[in-house]
Amino acid sequence: MQWMKKDILDIQSLSVEEIGMILDTAENLKEISQRPIKKVPTLRGKTVILFFHEASTRTRTSFDIAAKRLSADSISISATTSSIVKGETLIDTVKNLEAMNPDIMVIRHACSGVPHMLARQLHFSVINAGDGTHEHPTQALLDMMTVREKKGRLEGLRVAIVGDISHSRVARSNCLGFTKMGASVILSGPPTMIPSGIESFGVSVTYRVEEAIRDADVIMMLRIQKERQGAFSFPSEREYAQLFGLNLKRLEKAKDDVLIMHPGPINRGVEIAPAVADGPFSVILDQVANGVAIRMALLYLVSGGKRNVDTD
Ligand code: CP
Repeated sequence: MQWMKKDILDIQSLSVEEIGMILDTAENLKEISQRPIKKVPTLRGKTVILFFHEASTRTRTSFDIAAKRLSADSISISATTSSIVKGETLIDTVKNLEAMNPDIMVIRHACSGVPHMLARQLHFSVINAGDGTHEHPTQALLDMMTVREKKGRLEGLRVAIVGDISHSRVARSNCLGFTKMGASVILSGPPTMIPSGIESFGVSVTYRVEEAIRDADVIMMLRIQKERQGAFSFPSEREYAQLFGLNLKRLEKAKDDVLIMHPGPINRGVEIAPAVADGPFSVILDQVANGVAIRMALLYLVSGGKRNVDTD
């Protein structure tokens, strides 16, 4: 199979074969990060712009490291340090950046659909690093890579995603990704944080966290996204932790070989207890390590890809 897509905008538009190809490529490239000299010349002469309109630690840093490990030149800009603060529009900004002839732009934005809008107008590749509450495709890809690495497969697994589903682009991308790859997904959290009709994604819902985690092969805990909530959807963090947080007592009810995941950043003691986040079932830092490999794979694939008419 040859990679044909110019952009990586969402999990929804990726086929099972494309997801498989990304995961296989990432698995092959992962070894580069274990070498004494962690650099190959594959993308020498390519320019990657990291344009983050929202805060990020993991995604921005891992894209930057991924670009450098492949010998691409990476340039990081943010809304607060660009001329957007002087009133320049987003589209004027990226058109000016396009005039400098980059090859790839990685963009995170608080508004859903911004990467798609830019991809239609720009001649270089656009990778979505998280758009509003819509999708975070590279996070779902690194999550699927981590589960496949630890369990040897995705098909037939039961994945519980617990927390603020309504505001989570990670949840949306993972629902689409894991179900596409043959896993079943069960969502849990307060009724105020689970959108009605979410079952149309092919997932099931329970408001009892114990029920979600009982038979799960993977438990993915999500942060409450206070920055996206108009009014808080729960009385207090203490009550949330008691009713929905993953602590050692709740973990006793889970399978013996369960994987505990979290996309980060963690609110310790709220959605996940420190003893669980740092405990033997946690693969949270494996997720972060695999984030570099997945982003190396995406930079590599889109650099060789052609413009995809489907995303036009
Ligand atoms: N998981 C994730 O997107 O983390 P950052 O916000 O730190 O990039």
